[in-house]
Amino acid sequence: MRAPAITLKNEQDLEHLRISGRLAAQVLEMIAPYVKPGVSTEYLDDLCYDFIVNTLNVTPANIGYYGYTKTTCISPNQVVCHGIPAANIILKDGDIINIDVAIIKDGYFGDTSRMYFVGEIKPEAKHLVETTYAAMLAGIHAVKPGATLGDVGHAIQTVAEREGYSIVREYCGHGIGRIYHEQPNVVHYGRAGQGLKLETGMVFTIEPMVNAGGAGVKELADGWTVVTRDGNWSAQWEHMVAVTDTGFEVLSPWPEGTGDYPRLDLDK
Ligand code: MF3
Ligand code: CO
Ligand code: CO
Repeated sequence: MRAPAITLKNEQDLEHLRISGRLAAQVLEMIAPYVKPGVSTEYLDDLCYDFIVNTLNVTPANIGYYGYTKTTCISPNQVVCHGIPAANIILKDGDIINIDVAIIKDGYFGDTSRMYFVGEIKPEAKHLVETTYAAMLAGIHAVKPGATLGDVGHAIQTVAEREGYSIVREYCGHGIGRIYHEQPNVVHYGRAGQGLKLETGMVFTIEPMVNAGGAGVKELADGWTVVTRDGNWSAQWEHMVAVTDTGFEVLSPWPEGTGDYPRLDLDK
């Protein structure tokens, strides 16, 4: 079967996607003060569910997605992605976690994720998290009409590998709109000038998973949780990005007034 075409978004679509992206980012802001040693990842998930449904009055997109039952994915330490929130997963001092949230508002999806520090963090863990953020930003800054997805992947890979880290290959970013995961696939490695040529109106996520050790991953028996093969820690950040006439627009920006970290203009 021919792959479905990439949909180009018009200004009206973009207005919806800005709203959905910001709503998802608001969830990540809301949960930040609750990320502390001693809390379970299920507790954090419950708070996100309540906020999405009762405060934002929108729909959690992950519940029911291929049978997934939770509102967020929460991925600590060696968990690469798709960690299932659970009552027996208790955050400890020094952990790093990713919370990934997706919502639907008026038929349009918002999908974003970020890292959080639990208590006091070791310098190595902080460096992994910050390098992954810088890698995502380098990918975002490579987005403009006429550039290619290979340029984006190459920019991300370069930042991660120069620190001795590796890029996960099995999971990638994705087009997003009225469909949660649509074309194109956005891999986080690549060669400059290769791959799909970007056009104004394309919207996709950039969500690199960067491993401190080897690139290998495996899925656990629960059918979701992905961990590093070698047990080393992994980090991930995710933004929704639109290709504009002049470059890019981040559709899931951090809410105003929530501090300057993470900053979108961080040096690459
Ligand atoms: N939000 C994830 C992504 O970035 C997908 C999670 S699917 C789920 O694409 F079912 F695990 F929630
Ligand atoms: Co995504
Ligand atoms: Co996501």
